[in-house]
This record gives sequence, structure tokens and C-alpha cells, in this order.
Amino acid sequence: MRHPTTHARPSISDISEIADIFNSSVVSYAINAAWESGVTDRLEEQGRLVARSFAEEQSLSAELISSILQTLAIADIVRFDPERGEAFPGPIFEQAGFASPLFHWLHGGCGSLLHQLADIARGQTEGIERNATAISVASAEANARYFDPVFHEMLNSIDFSVVADLGAGSGRRLIDAVGRTPGSRGVGLEIAPSSVELAQTRIAESGLDDRIELLERDVTKLAFERAYADVDLVTCFLMGHDLWPRHKAVDVLRGLRTTFPRVHTLVLCDTVRLTGDASRRSDSIFSIGFELVHAAMGVYIPTTTEWLDVFEESGWKCDAHEAFEVPSSTVLFRLTTGAPGV
Ligand SMILES: C[S@@+](CC[C@H](N)C(=O)[O-])C[C@H]1O[C@@H](n2cnc3c(N)ncnc32)[C@H](O)[C@@H]1O
Repeated sequence: MRHPTTHARPSISDISEIADIFNSSVVSYAINAAWESGVTDRLEEQGRLVARSFAEEQSLSAELISSILQTLAIADIVRFDPERGEAFPGPIFEQAGFASPLFHWLHGGCGSLLHQLADIARGQTEGIERNATAISVASAEANARYFDPVFHEMLNSIDFSVVADLGAGSGRRLIDAVGRTPGSRGVGLEIAPSSVELAQTRIAESGLDDRIELLERDVTKLAFERAYADVDLVTCFLMGHDLWPRHKAVDVLRGLRTTFPRVHTLVLCDTVRLTGDASRRSDSIFSIGFELVHAAMGVYIPTTTEWLDVFEESGWKCDAHEAFEVPSSTVLFRLTTGAPGV
């Protein structure tokens, strides 16, 4: 269509595609707000929610909860009766609930960075940060929904006594792996102080603090410590890209065998770069946001082929890999040193 001028006022049908994108963006905020405020959980548990009583019970604004529900209704996520302020799950409620951690990553974790992309492009990066706690919380939920069934199956075939988790985030992986493996112990390595604090709290709450230790460490600068002496399994979820550029990833992965002298298995799961025709990107969820955010941070996202190449060069043998469609372009690799244990 031509640019609108004062002479020709466009009708909404002239810009329907872009209006759709605008409205979807707004709905996207409402999905995250519903998840963060407990609206999603309540609708899932009870199949019904009355805005006023829910808001009162949770000390929230009833007007805003109604408006969030009204916004979700536009996208068929809920059915909302504005007269009674009553909501029910809509036709795509389950899909929205399932994908909510990805929206939390986008808005809660990366929102402030995404709002300043043009400033970043101009080189003005001071004070622009992601929210480490929100990213840890979103990642923990993503693990539970998307990766755990496959990871648990893999874990059943790995004989380990001490697991080290690189970029441990909320500590959830360690709590889960140690909790389900009698006699095992765990050590988490995490760079962000707020995530270390979150993980320590969650580990204490789990009652496993006598078996799991959380250390504030940069995993790209590891050296042997006593706490690592018996580590035989290393896991690294949703942070492998932080080990790049390539030469650094090779060094870090090679160095793991010195830092953890008994390690026999490394399980690495990360979102890789989308490949192929860019126009097919609408068939994905998460990836284009992940790539945009990391472009803003100057972090390279490798492809599966590049990862396989790095594993080989750093002396790890990839004996299994599983691909996920949600979140898109995410791969779980099982790597071994060739030593017994798998
Ligand atoms: C996306 S989160 C994933 C958290 C967790 N692995 C999970 O799957 O839930 C990535 C985590 O890696 C941490 N991280 C990034 N670079 C790191 C580094 N060099 N050393 C230690 N942790 C790092 C971040 O602070 C963040 O908590």
C-alpha cells in the first residue's frame, strides 16, 4: 500500500497484516503478565477465574487483571465475560501455558535489552543488562517442560556419582538429577550473583544442601579444585553459546577433562543457529528472539555442524544427539571421553 497521507486515510484493512503483528506483540506481554501473576496457573487448576476475587486474594489490581484477561481473549487464549469479570480457558490456552516460559524469557529476561536495540546498534551499551533471575526462572521452567523427559531417559543410562552443572542458573537441574539418583552429589557453577543466591535458596528448600554445593565461578576460567575431584558427569544446559567464540569453546571443552579428572560424560543442551531459508522462520518459536538478543550482546550462536566440529577438535565423542522443535532449533548432545561409565 501507499504511505498514508492527509488526503487518503487508510482503512484498517489496508494495514491488516501489520495490525496483526502489533496486536500479537501486545498479547505477548499479557501472556507473560498472566503467567507471572498466577492467572495462568489458577485457570489451569480451576478452569475458571473471577478477576475481582482473584485480584483481592492476591493483592493485585482487579482493573488491570481484567484488562490482561481481555487482551488474552483477543487471541483466543481465554474466554472473558467483561460484565461478570469471569474468564475461562480459551481454545489456545494450553498452548499459551506450555509456551509461557519462552515469553517470560523474552519479556522478563530480555525486555529491557530489546527496548534499547537501536541504542545498542549505536554503541550505547552502558547499563543495558538482561534480568539474570528471570532468565534463570524461565530456563528452569523450560527444562521441566521441554527437555527433562529426554534428559531423564539419557540420565538413566549414565552411571555417575557426582554431577557438575555449568551455568547452573536456578539450581533446578542439580536438585532434579541428585534428587533422582540415590547416593549422588552435585556441584553447580554459576557466574551471576543473583542466580547463585536463587540457586542456594532453592537447594536449601529442597533439603539437598548436604549433597549439592553451589559456587560462584566463571566456567570459562576453571581450574581444578577439591570440590571437582570426583565429578564424573558434567551438564551444561542453555549456556553453551556463552563459551564461544570457537577457539574459546574448544579450549573450555578440552579443559573440562583437566578440571574434572574423573569426568566420562558431558551432556550439553543448547539452542543452535537456525539454518536454511529465512522465510521459513515463522515455523519456529524462540529462535528468532534468541538470535536477535544474542546479536545485540555480540554473542555468536553456532550451528549444530559447528558444535559437532568443536566437540571433535576438543576431544569429545558425540554418541547421541536429540533435536527439539519447542523451543526450535535446540539440541541435546551426549558426549563421552571414551572412558567407562556410559
Ligand atoms: C539461560 S541460563 C540457563 C540456566 C540453567 N543451565 C538451566 O538450564 O536452567 C544460562 C546461565 O548460565 C550462566 N552463565 C553464563 N555464562 C557463564 C559463565 N561464563 N560461567 C558461569 N555461568 C555462566 C548465566 O548466568 C545463566 O544463569
